[in-house]
Amino acid sequence: MSEKPRPITITDPVTVTVNGKEIEAQKGELLIDACERNGAYIPRFCYHPRMTPVGMCRMCLVEVDTGRGPALQPSCMLECGGTMTVDTESPAVRKAQDGVLEFLLANHPLDCPVCDKGGECPLQDQTVAYGPGESRWVEEKRHYEKPIAISETVMLDRERCILCDRCTRFADEVAGDALIHFMGRGSNTEVNTFPGEPFSSYFSGNTVQICPVGALTAKPYRFKARPWDLEQVESTCTTCSVGCRVTVQSSADRVLRNMGVDSDPVNWSWLCDKGRFGFESIHHADRLVEPLVRSGDELVPARWNDALDRAAALLREGLDRSGPGGIAVLGGARLTNEAAYAWVKLAKGVIGTDHVDAQLGDGLRADAVLGLPKATIDDACRKGGTVLYLGPDPKEQLPILFIRLRHAVIHDGVTLIEIAPQATGLSSLAAESLRCRPGDAASLVEALLAGTTSSAGGVDGQRVAAASALLKAADGPVTVVLGRTSLAESDVSVVDAAALLLDGLEGVRFLSALRRANVHGALDMGMSPGLLPGRVRRAEAHDWFAQAWPTVPDADGHDARGILQAAAEGRIDTLILLGSDPLRDFPDHALAERALRAARNVIVVDTFLNSSADRADVVLAAAGFGEVSGTTTNLEGRVTILNQKVTAPGTARPDWLIAGELARRLDADLGFAGVDDIWAEVEELSIVHAGMTADVLAATGHADGIVAPMAVVVPEPAPDDSETDETSEVDDDQPGDAASEDWAPPVVVEAPELLRFEAPPRTSAVPVDSYSLRLFVTRELYDDGTLLQHCESSAGLSKPSLVRIHPHDLATIGVETGGRVRLTGAERSLVVEVVATPSLPTGLASVVFGQPGVEIGRLIDSAALVTEVRMEAAP
Ligand code: SF4
Ligand code: SF4
Ligand code: FES
Repeated sequence: MSEKPRPITITDPVTVTVNGKEIEAQKGELLIDACERNGAYIPRFCYHPRMTPVGMCRMCLVEVDTGRGPALQPSCMLECGGTMTVDTESPAVRKAQDGVLEFLLANHPLDCPVCDKGGECPLQDQTVAYGPGESRWVEEKRHYEKPIAISETVMLDRERCILCDRCTRFADEVAGDALIHFMGRGSNTEVNTFPGEPFSSYFSGNTVQICPVGALTAKPYRFKARPWDLEQVESTCTTCSVGCRVTVQSSADRVLRNMGVDSDPVNWSWLCDKGRFGFESIHHADRLVEPLVRSGDELVPARWNDALDRAAALLREGLDRSGPGGIAVLGGARLTNEAAYAWVKLAKGVIGTDHVDAQLGDGLRADAVLGLPKATIDDACRKGGTVLYLGPDPKEQLPILFIRLRHAVIHDGVTLIEIAPQATGLSSLAAESLRCRPGDAASLVEALLAGTTSSAGGVDGQRVAAASALLKAADGPVTVVLGRTSLAESDVSVVDAAALLLDGLEGVRFLSALRRANVHGALDMGMSPGLLPGRVRRAEAHDWFAQAWPTVPDADGHDARGILQAAAEGRIDTLILLGSDPLRDFPDHALAERALRAARNVIVVDTFLNSSADRADVVLAAAGFGEVSGTTTNLEGRVTILNQKVTAPGTARPDWLIAGELARRLDADLGFAGVDDIWAEVEELSIVHAGMTADVLAATGHADGIVAPMAVVVPEPAPDDSETDETSEVDDDQPGDAASEDWAPPVVVEAPELLRFEAPPRTSAVPVDSYSLRLFVTRELYDDGTLLQHCESSAGLSKPSLVRIHPHDLATIGVETGGRVRLTGAERSLVVEVVATPSLPTGLASVVFGQPGVEIGRLIDSAALVTEVRMEAAP
């Protein structure tokens, strides 16, 4: 098992004698960890450094003498302290280990040759190292039906189980999904799920990783390879923005498994199932393997040269017709930091357009993401701290952030105050969960800060007062987790709330809850209107980048909504969709449709042919996760390394290379021969990445990544001779001919200031219209997005979307669960089936976005502060 003891700082040292040698341990540290840190590994099955020890298996018995003579004790249950003399290798210990293994093997089938765990099985390894040479067991062993599927992705071979309580403990203690249990008694004790209650947890794959035998196996990996066939690299999951560390394992150039790596500041070795099993999409038959160009009504395969020539010709024509402002780039959150930089340099530095946005209308203003005082996950989970959560349900959108916050509340006394229109995965843990009306977050926050006892944002006054008291009683700075709670409201209220919190809570820090893979890296690289790489405003950094780039835009561009609006009005000539599918992903479907219909040309750069690609003139096949190297940035601003493991399919190319080729055809040279060149330029020009060289990132101590900025290094301006010595004689060594009229003193460009959040003028909340319902639109982990729909094991997990409404609201039109209603928005209406949901506030229609069933995007108005709909019974 590759599980390492948790990193500790020794503040209260005690000395323990282990195998005759004195070691230093932290008082209270578990003996099993202290010994391992000091080179005395103790075998174990049930102990896991990230879970509560239970002393189930007794494999970790050691002889401990605390002054009353040596006795065998489980080292995973013993805390260091007092006087301890420990022997981990004595004859008594050896005998105990031998005995424990003999008992464990009594009922264990010896099916190692056909067991998926064979070759990496702790039971196998420890039997060889510590066990009896042969079995004395002659009785019949237990037999069970095998294997049984306990969920869509996990299989269980019960007779292999050694009852270590790891899976059951994980499900209950870590994930909070106690769906797998011990059943039966004595030698008939087995691990299983209850009938009709499958192990449908978003985190089920972790039990497979930590099961010390082959009892739990994952369908996507079963019988695909033997451990000794696998090669691996360490990388970072880019399925969402948490950025969990993973090892990507492959055989015969195919990714076969992702395993969680214990990154102390981030994922503690856990992964969600979407991230763990998402690798299945890498080798899907639908992957784009070559470029396509439009020929009549069809997209037909083309050679790269021809496709790139065609794309460059479209860009040239667009530039000739409409200038740089006629070109726009949507998307980029799928890209590595290096690819994002290359595309920003192409778009802003070569083409000259600032209409670039990596967010698709579901995020926040860039200065609210990058310009507020930033918190890390560890800051949010600080013992005894207080978290104000104002964002989407983390269990659905940022699963391992949910796991970390859950642990922080349960085990580290963190006080959680949640602002959410409907219950989330965190609600049962929150000290106060405030059901705020969509669009009213700022009014509620204002009341919280003022400590009023009157209702605000639809929340009862007493709850407001209770939450306010919790905020006031916070021990140390509050961490605000900030994101867009609903896709059917603009970011205005959340940004206003952030401004109030920044002003009203001393020392407050913010952790972003934007979910898209590398959206934070893309924003850092300037993939947002009005920004340039390094978290700097375009206007302030214009001259800084003008030194290095062929051009820099002269005005701030449009965000995603503005780009689509401009396209719909015929003001965008060429739209580049960079790993984005606005038809499926932009909340306001009607606008996305109008935009794609009206844009003269569309260039798509992606890994799959998505729905928006139907409108494409050129499709350029990109390499994806596992196929490219570089770096990525998570929601904390933590930069980690991504490693390539397999070859991209067909002739698919890295995104940065595509940008470079297009630039060349536009008579510019991005100047990159590889990702190292790009990163070197990022490190040189981006203020926020100063000092973060490739060597620093790759250094052993930085395996968990580095939170940017590691240090703000502002280059010293060169001395301005013209001011200091106006009368001095001309120096013959000046560049060029000093006497000639061409010579001018060097232009000194000062490094731009880092972006700071600018509080916008407060927008008034939308008055409540009691004849309408407010739309509340969220996402769930399993959706019908491109990644999941190309994962064989998980594609069927997305549930059809339903519209949930409080029974009182439904009663007003005489409809019950299963009935149909017509929801009418500003322009369109939809007939949908409803579910009466008493736990929702009244006045709300709650729907999940991007699921089969209800196309709620048809009703969302991205121009409105909140989307309101009228409801009537439908036949
Ligand atoms: Fe332990 Fe595996 Fe059995 Fe669960 S299934 S109790 S993890 S041996
Ligand atoms: Fe990947 Fe996000 Fe899941 Fe972590 S939480 S494994 S980054 S999808
Ligand atoms: Fe200590 Fe199992 S590891 S009892």
